[in-house]
Amino acid sequence: ARTAAVIPAAGRGVRLGPGAPKALRALGGTPMLIHAVRAMAASRAVSLVVVVAPPDGTAEVKSLLDAHALPERTDFLVVPGGAERQDSVKLGLDALPPEYDIVLVHDAARPLVPVDTVDAVIEAVRDGAPAVVPALPLADTVKEVEPAGTPGEPEPVVATPPRARLRAVQTPQGFDRATLVRAHETVTDQVTDDAGMVEQLGLTVVVVPGHEEAFKVTRPLDLVLAEAVLARRRL
Ligand code: CTP
Ligand code: MG
Repeated sequence: ARTAAVIPAAGRGVRLGPGAPKALRALGGTPMLIHAVRAMAASRAVSLVVVVAPPDGTAEVKSLLDAHALPERTDFLVVPGGAERQDSVKLGLDALPPEYDIVLVHDAARPLVPVDTVDAVIEAVRDGAPAVVPALPLADTVKEVEPAGTPGEPEPVVATPPRARLRAVQTPQGFDRATLVRAHETVTDQVTDDAGMVEQLGLTVVVVPGHEEAFKVTRPLDLVLAEAVLARRRL
């Protein structure tokens, strides 16, 4: 079985605040995307990384990949992304050569995922799961609300799902390629993760242990944490 990783990196990073597209922002002096690419290429099982770049930034992403040291045994492709994350993942899947039968989908915004997490996801797909997600138990209790019409308005609570049964899902998510392709061809609802589309096909998605360092850089405080994690690794 050959494994490829698709890295959606075409988002603007609106919640991080003004500046370059999020994937191109520096973390420890190196673009976040390069960290994410290295995290995928660190797995010996991954022989191709497809980067889905901001549509106006494919040339810039190609030169970044050329400028940074990456493992020789890994191939790289760069394709332009789409309007929503889902569209970007689809465009990445469309670019995959036929010989890859396992696909990882990994957010450029999770630059620090450890290789052991990547390998655990691949292992579970190899063991026969059509879709695998790394995830962690929640620290916060989660409430479902009736969303307010106006921001800042109090919102009535609808339900409190038991926290012990909830998991916060990370990436890379791993898939049998044919399953993920079918999910992207048939599911038209907006989803926030790829495994959610496979669930909508009626297939079972399994969870493996995630990692604290696989957190997503979404808001400015996440960047502070990411810099601290990187500094600790470099000690
Ligand atoms: N992404 C993408 N194409 C899009 C939107 C998002 O490839 N049209 C990617 C992002 O680059 C990121 C990942 O999907 O690596 C997760 O998305 P998110 O964290 O929401 O990043 P952004 O969409 O860039 O951030 P924001 O929602 O704050 O604008
Ligand atoms: Mg987004």
